[in-house]
Amino acid sequence: MSEAFDVASAVDHLRSRLPEVPRIGIVLGSGLGGVADRVTGRTEVPFARVPGYPGTSVAGHAGTYVAGRLGDTAVLLQSGRFHRYEGHPDDIVAAPIRVAAALGVHTLILTNAAGGIRRDLDPGAIMLLADHINWMFTSPLIGAVHGREERFPDMSRPYDEALADLARTAARDLGVRLDEGVYAAVLGPAYETPAEVRLLERLGADAVGMSTVPEVLVARALGLRCLAFSVVTNRAAGLGAGALGHEEVIATGREAGTRLAELLAHLVVEIDRSYPGSAK
Ligand code: HPA
Repeated sequence: MSEAFDVASAVDHLRSRLPEVPRIGIVLGSGLGGVADRVTGRTEVPFARVPGYPGTSVAGHAGTYVAGRLGDTAVLLQSGRFHRYEGHPDDIVAAPIRVAAALGVHTLILTNAAGGIRRDLDPGAIMLLADHINWMFTSPLIGAVHGREERFPDMSRPYDEALADLARTAARDLGVRLDEGVYAAVLGPAYETPAEVRLLERLGADAVGMSTVPEVLVARALGLRCLAFSVVTNRAAGLGAGALGHEEVIATGREAGTRLAELLAHLVVEIDRSYPGSAK
């Protein structure tokens, strides 16, 4: 068995480098690193410097923390994440969430790239996660309970309804189209077959991707408020014109990522305003 990830060492390292306690954590998926450009007073900490973190391997995943402010709000951006398909154990996949919570983050916004299953989710669409399906058949919560995490976290509302309302309002104010739907998480790394996509569609999935759900499981066990967005980078297998490639996923993610960055910058300010005292 691999050794358990040492949250305290990672937290000590980050605490000694971050200028202030971050309250809102934002996880940026494939090609979505552009949000970091809007952060002021930036401090960067590469994952490779954090004790216990492996280096990231996937193209499009920079693997860097960017701490600073969006508007007036202290944020911790996590550009890149650890996936099961890279061969990382659940403990590592979950580590950044445990670290963020220990640093003081109380609200977590996760983003990912996903294939669109529902027909109106065109490439470039931004989908607010209304709910999810864990089709990975594993969970980072398996095993001994970590610290103050719950043994049996309630998942009847994985995504915070009040935060979702703020996201809808922010999108409306900015004129950014925001779709909503159910995200199915699969292990990957191969994209799905058309038959698998038809199966997921029948299960009630609107989009499919390879991340986010393990992180949300840990975040909910820790009591963090969660909100998540998919950037639809392609039509899921069998629904589009041709083959699927990682480059297409990255390129579409960049374009839509600009819109999502604008939405997130606005949303963070609104979250801060809605939770005075807790968000500063
Ligand atoms: N399937 C799974 N993961 C993905 C996809 C997809 O079609 N697109 C981006 N991430």
